[in-house]
Amino acid sequence: MLLPKGLPYLLCLGFVIGFRPNRESGSLPPGDFTDADITEMGVLRAVASYMEKNPLPGKPPMSPGELENMEPLTATRLFKAYFQADVSPSRFVKAIQEIISGNNLVEADHSKDSSFFFYCEEFTKSINQLRNLRDSVLSGLKGSVSSSTLESARLNTGKVLHILQKFYSNTNWVEMGNSKPYEHLLNPSSRAFPLAPATKDTCKDCRELSTKRYSCDDNLLALDMLTSGYMLTGASCPKKPKGKCGHGGKRDPTQNFPAKGGINKETSDPEQSPHYYLHQRAAELAIQATRDFFVGAGFGFLDEVGKEIFQKFFNLQGYSLTFAIDTTGSMSDDIQQVKTTCIDLLRKYSGSPDAPYNYILVPFNDPDVGPVLKTSSVDEIESYISDLRATGGGDCPEMSLTGLKLALQESLPRSKIFTFTDAGAKDAELRDEIKVLVDSSGSDVNCFLTGYCASRKRRSVPEPAASTRSFANLYEELASYSGGYYALTTKSQLSQILGIMELSLNAAPVKVAHSRLDGTRFSFPVDETLTEISVSVKSLSSAGFTMTVEEPSGVSSTATSVVINTASHKVVKVSPINVQGSWAVVVTPSGSYEVEIGGKSLLDFSYQIMQPQNEYVLPIEGRPVKGSEYTVSIKLMGEASDMEVQRLVALSEATLLMVEGLSPGHFPFSRVNTDPINAESVQIVSLPDQNNTMSPGKSLEVSVAVVNDGATGSFSFNVWDDMGFMKSFSPTTAVLNPGQNITLTANFVAAVESNTFAASIATFTAKSSMAQNYLKMPIIVIPEEALETDETPPIYKLLDFYMPCVGKLQNQPICSQHSWFMRFFAMDGQSTITLRANPNSSGLSCTPQGTESDNNVICQYRSDCCSPYVEIVISDENGNAATIAIDYRRSRPPATAYCRRENTMSVVDLLARNPHCDSG
Ligand SMILES: *[C@@H]1O[C@H](CO)[C@@H](O)[C@H](O)[C@H]1NC(C)=O
Ligand SMILES: *[C@@H]1O[C@H](CO)[C@@H](O)[C@H](O)[C@H]1NC(C)=O
Ligand SMILES: *[C@@H]1O[C@H](CO)[C@@H](O)[C@H](O)[C@H]1NC(C)=O
Repeated sequence: MLLPKGLPYLLCLGFVIGFRPNRESGSLPPGDFTDADITEMGVLRAVASYMEKNPLPGKPPMSPGELENMEPLTATRLFKAYFQADVSPSRFVKAIQEIISGNNLVEADHSKDSSFFFYCEEFTKSINQLRNLRDSVLSGLKGSVSSSTLESARLNTGKVLHILQKFYSNTNWVEMGNSKPYEHLLNPSSRAFPLAPATKDTCKDCRELSTKRYSCDDNLLALDMLTSGYMLTGASCPKKPKGKCGHGGKRDPTQNFPAKGGINKETSDPEQSPHYYLHQRAAELAIQATRDFFVGAGFGFLDEVGKEIFQKFFNLQGYSLTFAIDTTGSMSDDIQQVKTTCIDLLRKYSGSPDAPYNYILVPFNDPDVGPVLKTSSVDEIESYISDLRATGGGDCPEMSLTGLKLALQESLPRSKIFTFTDAGAKDAELRDEIKVLVDSSGSDVNCFLTGYCASRKRRSVPEPAASTRSFANLYEELASYSGGYYALTTKSQLSQILGIMELSLNAAPVKVAHSRLDGTRFSFPVDETLTEISVSVKSLSSAGFTMTVEEPSGVSSTATSVVINTASHKVVKVSPINVQGSWAVVVTPSGSYEVEIGGKSLLDFSYQIMQPQNEYVLPIEGRPVKGSEYTVSIKLMGEASDMEVQRLVALSEATLLMVEGLSPGHFPFSRVNTDPINAESVQIVSLPDQNNTMSPGKSLEVSVAVVNDGATGSFSFNVWDDMGFMKSFSPTTAVLNPGQNITLTANFVAAVESNTFAASIATFTAKSSMAQNYLKMPIIVIPEEALETDETPPIYKLLDFYMPCVGKLQNQPICSQHSWFMRFFAMDGQSTITLRANPNSSGLSCTPQGTESDNNVICQYRSDCCSPYVEIVISDENGNAATIAIDYRRSRPPATAYCRRENTMSVVDLLARNPHCDSG
């Protein structure tokens, strides 16, 4: 049993119903939006909008909102509406999950960096962080992209979205009455909103309801300038100044110090969020901003990367049908057979929603592998296969795993790979790498052997003993690991491939059961969402047997067709399915068998393994560790929402997860997730708050801890990254006792041009004879100039100030016959300045000065004595602002704010002229 006993699990049911990272992190009011919910909904809307504008070939365009405004909008319903067929969204769901993981992991990796949260009025830093991260993601998506580039781009995009979304929960944007996202965050050419100067009071104390509980309905003083809540994060935000807003809520210890309370809208729970009543609006804006991040016209991700990459990023493209074919001399007859058998079938399916997105051919020989040929046309793949020439390959084993590795790398996620060979693998050492590729791609590897000649000569790399279960050879092990088929056929039986290929041509494959049968009868539930099923039975003793498939009434199904029929392995397909309930497969004689039930359905589930980290429950990185406790989060996918999970089962032998429940039609259903959980006894953990950013030409040191949770072992380590930035790492080996850990440190050098953004993903691995694990970590390259932020507000100097509006001159109607004015000079060292007068700009007029005209102005403000007050806001292109506040109203103590805290060069002038200021 690889999973710990009593695996605690948490069922995360239903549809999408800052913001807290996810629902797994603790109880939340049911209608609340988490980071995960916001990300998912924003992505669904963005992809829906993309699909509306880009209908399938031959289909009419859709009207705006047709998909995006679907209620409820789910991945399954979106795919069904777009493809107008049962097409599983599981590959798209996986992409969304990777983005959400990146988003959630900010809480583990960057919790001490306030720029990931818009805390502490760190607007310039947060916006800079956001844009730099985004630019490095975009730079990684230029040209041809590999699956690991895409994975790293998704993780980093999750981080970018985290910053973006926090803007809406942690600043006063919503309180200012905005009903649209703040476009400037993503689009520098869109206007910046003024930021409250350091000197400005932004919040007053909330009313104390009881000890440590506050009512904060009207605590904001800044409603025309941006401010955010202070949340102490150590060095990047060490204190909350008096007069500034807090983040607030019981997680914020400064909520009891002035300004008491806070402004966060992360939840709708008053104890966690002082502005809880605005949670919904903040979440809606965050969803809209997430959507716009991807498809915003002119600045969104889609416009930056183009349609092809957009589709790849979200795994929208369907699956590949990939042939990895041994082209050595002994295979020449077989290649012809493969061609004639398969092509007619592929032709029959072409144009069907079940057809693959593309066909890929990877020839392998010894020592050559490739070139890879890709096409979406059946005719072309036919001619590629015809053109294969069987040659060479003197000795027996071939470079078959190198071929398979290339096939996995070139195929879309969740692809069907068919490997044909008649020889053992010369490159068996690639086995573990292949397994990691299978894990991350979710592809099935089907292996067909038309013979098996192993090494004639002894090789330096021995064929590794197959683990856990006994397999005939490495091919059977890899096929079984990936959930694919393995068959050792005689040349005359090659037609079996046809049946397996037909099973593979399925746009919504699910697994209903996977079990060992000791005896004669195995029952399985068939729910109304299954449109076809396949029943595979393998004798574990290799003895011959017969089997029948029984409907719930006990009669043998007549809708069966034979797919594989060898003495010890039989597969039948049942289609159509006319009756639901408990079906069975009955075998004779009684014995030990492996049974797998597959099918086609849109009812499926995805899972995520999570663990407590900081104060949350966050996705784990790498593989889980034996004996540790985890939370397994389950998400059901389906067309209708009224499904119910009743049980989560870990299928111990195969390390697969199975869910049992009730379908929308109230039939019992079961589904097995085909992504295996591989629990290991070694883990690699990232050390908290590591710096993963470097500048071009500079180096970066990244350390991880390797923890041995198993028996004493001798471990070897490896580190690599996509872009080849890794220069060295140490140590390379170590003996670790049980419970012992060691720090593994790698050095990266950003060998790129000085003005370049780049993104890479580093993989750290640790391996002993008994265990192995990995950790992936994004590495970001940001040019030094881009790291510089302008946080200096404009400066001003008062030139003239005439204020006669005292006493009865403020009374109506006489006040309108008297006026007051001031003249001032304002400038910014870096950028254009914008001026605004509150409450009314009509009395303000400015004239540019000098050559850098817009950076440098002289202004006059004039008003009558009915309005003896004004606040002039002078802001630069980044929103950095200075204010001049004048207030001579009798009903308020005059000019307090400005007298107490102004510290610019005009203070002396102003004090000299203002009789109400107390210069002490
Ligand atoms: C990260 O490291 C780089 C290079 O070593 C350095 O320039 C940068 O300031 C560091 N960033 C942080 C947040 O420590
Ligand atoms: C590594 O071992 C040290 C000393 O035993 C321990 O303090 C530390 O917490 C361990 N680190 C990890 C990541 O397990
Ligand atoms: C702004 O001030 C001008 C001149 O004092 C006045 O005519 C106008 O009505 C004011 N506008 C608003 C919206 O108060």
